[in-house]
Amino acid sequence: MPLDIIVGAQWGDEGKGRVVDLFSAKADYVARYNGGGNAGHTVTLREKTFKLHLIPSGVIHSHTVGAVGNGVVVNPATLISEIDSLRQAGVEINPERLCLSYAAHMITPGHRALDGAQELDRGQAAIGTTLRGIGPAYADKVTRSGIRLGDMLDLEKFSGVLEAHILSVNQRLTGLYGAEPLDPKAVVKEYIEWAVQLKPYIKDVSLLLENGLKQGRLVLAEGAQGTLLDLDHGTYPFVTSSYPTAAGALMGLGLGVGNVERVVGVTKAFQTRVGAGPFPSEVSGEIALRLRGTGQNPWDEFGTTTGRPRRVGWLDMVLLRYAVRINGLTELAITKLDILTGLECVKICVAYRREGQVLENLRFGPADIDNCEPVYEELPAWRDDLRSVRSWEKLPGPARAYILRIEDLSGVPVRLVSVGPERDQVVEFG
Ligand code: IMP
Repeated sequence: MPLDIIVGAQWGDEGKGRVVDLFSAKADYVARYNGGGNAGHTVTLREKTFKLHLIPSGVIHSHTVGAVGNGVVVNPATLISEIDSLRQAGVEINPERLCLSYAAHMITPGHRALDGAQELDRGQAAIGTTLRGIGPAYADKVTRSGIRLGDMLDLEKFSGVLEAHILSVNQRLTGLYGAEPLDPKAVVKEYIEWAVQLKPYIKDVSLLLENGLKQGRLVLAEGAQGTLLDLDHGTYPFVTSSYPTAAGALMGLGLGVGNVERVVGVTKAFQTRVGAGPFPSEVSGEIALRLRGTGQNPWDEFGTTTGRPRRVGWLDMVLLRYAVRINGLTELAITKLDILTGLECVKICVAYRREGQVLENLRFGPADIDNCEPVYEELPAWRDDLRSVRSWEKLPGPARAYILRIEDLSGVPVRLVSVGPERDQVVEFG
C-alpha cells in the first residue's frame, strides 16, 4: 500500500482535517509532517468538536496509528493537553497509537517570547504570525541550535541544554527587543515533567512508517497550513517557516518519493487567508460578510488557533494552478461549496491583469502578485440547499458547472466536495 498526501492548496484552513478524517477510514497510519501549534484542525467525534493543533486528526479512528514527523515543531504543553482531552473523550492514546519523531524540534517558552517580540519589532511590516513560536523554533533548527524531542531521553543532559537555550534567548529578548527575560529554572522544571510523560512516545517515525509501507499498510500524510504559506513556494515573506507542500511530506516524515500514490489538494470553493500578505481576489463589504459568516457558527471564517477573522475572496485559479504544479496534485477536494448557495452569481478569478497585460500564470511565483488585478469569470449561482445532496446527479446544474469549470481550469479531477459541516455532508465522485 502507498503513501497518500493531503495538502492544503491555498493559504491554510482549507478543511484538510475533514478530508483526512474521511481518508483515515482506510488508512493504517496518519502522520503530520510540518508546522506545529499554529495549525488547527477541527474534528468531530460523537457530537463533540475538537480543535487539534499537533496530534494528527486521524487518531480519532480507533484503527489508526498517529505519527508526528521530524518536520513538525512540538510544544510539549500543547501536545499533553491534546492527549488529555482526547482521553477524556474516550479516545485511547498510548505509545502504540501515537509516535513522536526523535528528530522533531521542540518549541519552548523562549521561542514563543521571541515570536511576540519580533512581531512587535516588525511594526507595520508584521507578518501576523500565530505567536506560537513557530518561526523562532525553525530558525534554531536551521542554525543548528535547536532542541529535539530525542534530547528528552537523557534528562540530565536535556536540563543543561534547555537552561542554556533560555539564557541565550534572554540575551536576545532583553538586548535586542527590551523584553522581559524568562526564568530558566522554572522552564526546566516544567519541561522535565513533560519529558518524563512523553519519553515512551519518542520513536523513529521514518522507520515505523517505512516498515508499515513494506507490510502493505496505507500511510496518510497530513499537511498543516497550505501551499501559499510554504517557506520557499509561498507568498514570501508572508509565509510560515515550514514546508506544507507535498515535497515537505517526504522530508518531514523521512520517506522516499517512490512511495507516493495520491496527492490530494484541498481547496475551499472560495479563497481565505489569515495574517498579512497579498490577496488579489480579496473582497470586502456585504459579500465578504456572506463568505466569512459572523462567527456564530463553528464553520464561520475565524481562525481555529487565534480566533482572528479571516480575509475572504473569490476562488483564485491562477494560484490553484500553481498549487497543482508545485505539489504534483493528482486530484482536488473542494470544501464549503454550500457557502456559495444563494449568492447572485459566483465569480472565479481566471487570470491577473498587470500593467496592461493579462497573465494566466505567475511570473515570479506568488510573492509577486502585489499589483495584480483579478480577471473574473462570472458563473450562475444556485438557490437549492446542498446539504442533503450525496451524488453528482443531485447537485444543482450551476454547482456542477462550477466544479467542471474548476477541473477545466486546474487540469485535475475533483474527487470530493463537501456540502455542509457534518461528517457525512460530502459528495464523492469517481
Ligand atoms: P506562523 O506560522 O505562526 O509563523 O505564521 C505565519 C503566517 O502563516 C501568518 O500569516 C499566519 O496567519 C499563517 N498561518 C500559520 N498557520 C496557519 C494555519 O494553520 N492556517 C492559516 N494560516 C496560518
